[in-house]
Amino acid sequence: MLTLGIETSCDETAAAVLRDATVLSNIVSSQVKLHEQYGGVVPELASREHLKNLMPVIGEALSAASITLKDVNLIAVTSAPGLIGALLVGVSVAKAIAYSLGIPFIGVHHGEGHILAAHLEYPDIGYPYVALLASGGHTALYHVQEFGTYSLLGQTRDDAAGEAFDKVAKLLDLPYPGGPVIDRLAQQGDARAIAFPRGQREGYDFSFSGLKTAVRNHVALFRSKDKGLDPSLNVSDVAASFQAAVVDTLVEKTVKAAKEQGVNKVIVAGGVAANRLLRQEMERSCREAGITLYLPGMGLCIDNAAMIALTGYLHYQRGERSDLDLNPRASMAL
Ligand code: KG4
Ligand code: ZN
Repeated sequence: MLTLGIETSCDETAAAVLRDATVLSNIVSSQVKLHEQYGGVVPELASREHLKNLMPVIGEALSAASITLKDVNLIAVTSAPGLIGALLVGVSVAKAIAYSLGIPFIGVHHGEGHILAAHLEYPDIGYPYVALLASGGHTALYHVQEFGTYSLLGQTRDDAAGEAFDKVAKLLDLPYPGGPVIDRLAQQGDARAIAFPRGQREGYDFSFSGLKTAVRNHVALFRSKDKGLDPSLNVSDVAASFQAAVVDTLVEKTVKAAKEQGVNKVIVAGGVAANRLLRQEMERSCREAGITLYLPGMGLCIDNAAMIALTGYLHYQRGERSDLDLNPRASMAL
């Protein structure tokens, strides 16, 4: 069974081909260069870029998998949540291909795709597990009892973790997206230089806005209207101290959730899972707690269509499919 996956929910145009649950190709065309100059994703530009790039990216995914469109048996596409205009491009193309070939198509929840990405790399994970989803749009902890059953344990009350990285980078005059830049800078910084607050100690919910304000207040001491950021501000120390605060919270709550739910497996998903300190600290903490950690490679952590194809394929296996009147949705709970 060949599934073509399509992902256009934000600023990555992606297509992938799976044979059953095995990845044959996984192509991602990033729009970062375009949005960088505006300091963040411009929704209208994202839609236009998807429109321009999606068919070529699909073509690339098909040829990398050594198949043609006519060989495809199922189309899986991200239909929620995300930027509505961006989602619309993927969903419209998916419908058109499915209709013209007379094959089924299925709308996929982007967050479920992120969680299930780990199964592509570790097919034998099994259930149950605790999943931390930390991306630019989401930060949430789920107790996953089995495929399709996701109990929300907690989520962010304000910014998503990735969003906090992006906003802090902006405060430091660093380019978008901030996560990878802060990750890199933090390597040369001292994580104990500034004692930023950890925020939201109780329960499984997260909060990053207090931390962001603390960074803003710290940076404000070094910023003047006419001269900008004073060079005496140690940007690497700020990056390292901020990153440590985010990572501490994410790791502590995830491990606490696994212990309290009586689950001995954890998976980490979403763009922030590419963070080096998070990977390192999560590994250490899980090892100490006797928990097995499943961390997908970077290519499966960031937005990609292989995770969407897998999610669609698994739902299809259960007899589910979408109708041609399916509409994308900007927000939707998992
Ligand atoms: O999952 P993703 O590709 O897109 C969304 O669904 O949001 O996540 C993108 C987010 C951005 O906020 C980006 O700054 C963050 O993931 N990110 C990172 C790293 N790489 C990407 N955050 C921290 N460290 C990284 N290495
Ligand atoms: Zn994502």
